[in-house]
Amino acid sequence: MMNKVVLVTGANSGIGLALCERLLSQDTEGLQLCLACRNMRRAQAARSALLASHPTAQVALLQMDTSNIFSVISAAHEIKLRYCRLDYLYLNAGIMPNAQFDVKAFFKGIFSSNIITMFATGEGILTQKDGVTSDGLQDVFATNLFGHFLLIRELEPVLCRAGQTSQLIWTSSSNAQRSAFNLDDIQHQRGTQPYSSSKYASDLLSLALNTLYNKQDLYSSVICPGFVMTNLTYSILPSFPAFLWTVLMPVFWLIRIFTNTFTLTPYNGAEALFWLFKQKPESLDPQAKYHSLTSGLGNNYTQPRKMDIDLETSEAFYEKLLQLENEVRKKLKEKQPASQCLHSAGPRSS
Ligand SMILES: NC(=O)c1ccc[n+]([C@@H]2O[C@H](COP(=O)([O-])OP(=O)(O)OC[C@H]3O[C@@H](n4cnc5c(N)ncnc54)[C@H](OP(=O)(O)O)[C@@H]3O)[C@@H](O)[C@H]2O)c1
Repeated sequence: MMNKVVLVTGANSGIGLALCERLLSQDTEGLQLCLACRNMRRAQAARSALLASHPTAQVALLQMDTSNIFSVISAAHEIKLRYCRLDYLYLNAGIMPNAQFDVKAFFKGIFSSNIITMFATGEGILTQKDGVTSDGLQDVFATNLFGHFLLIRELEPVLCRAGQTSQLIWTSSSNAQRSAFNLDDIQHQRGTQPYSSSKYASDLLSLALNTLYNKQDLYSSVICPGFVMTNLTYSILPSFPAFLWTVLMPVFWLIRIFTNTFTLTPYNGAEALFWLFKQKPESLDPQAKYHSLTSGLGNNYTQPRKMDIDLETSEAFYEKLLQLENEVRKKLKEKQPASQCLHSAGPRSS
């Protein structure tokens, strides 16, 4: 029997790395784990840390920058050369660049009935300044969503195997808000909440993927890790001194009594990702987001909650992504010399 192949994007830190650790703690022998990371030095450090606690584990590395079209297509080509199957694809890499914390909205929220939701989702208090990638795409959209979409499209042959199920698992967020997403501006060029928009987009895409691919035994799910202290969260307040975060931690533990979404550690945040690994994908609800939750006493559990999405919008969004894919492939062909050109002719059009 071949080992199960699991690929995790953004695996070198935070929730992605914690997931890898948890997967190996459950089953060192039966897994081939591939860490797909943009920075090979950080990826190597993560691999060494995993092997230190699981010396016999099979942990491979793969260079991939999800914000770069050529990098994603090259990585997908490499995956198809290395593996003839892919059982789990964790779409976890993500950014929230140049985050701005709206202090006024925060204090307004504290004295409103929305206080718990504000703490649980970050709704209304976080905006970001987005950039543009070398491919001309909005950075947050490209990194969090579009690079992953292209990866799935490229990996169709190893993901869709008759009679053998494969799972796509997205690290979304409860910060995914319908109000931040616009079908006429899918990259969120005109707004100030590209992160929320990209996460809402992943919820929509997951639903569309289920509609399209379930008959080929490929299933997609989304999770929210809760509020976790990682590089991403620390970057929201970069000038905040480290000791202040330490001072704040007891406050966060206290908040957990009122909202179980304060999972705080990457280990806890990875709960739903790990839980999904053990589920039969056919039994999952494509309209639900699976939340990592931690009780006041520190017990972890996973809970599905209905997402604010609909089939019609998800299908319309998928069509827009296909159009954009055609455009970027065309541009890439024009840019690359023939010898370096796309390794594959691209996936079947849907
Ligand atoms: N922390 C939270 O409270 C929270 C809440 C909801 C959702 N999430 C989601 O959880 C996921 C993991 O984030 P985290 O909290 O664990 O933060 P993190 O420690 O910063 O992890 C993010 C990972 O994504 C990688 N990454 C970023 N840009 C990339 C790119 N262009 N190509 C490839 N990899 C890239 C990072 O690599 P580098 O080390 O090279 O930067 C890192 O490995 C993200 O999707 C995030 O949106 C987090």
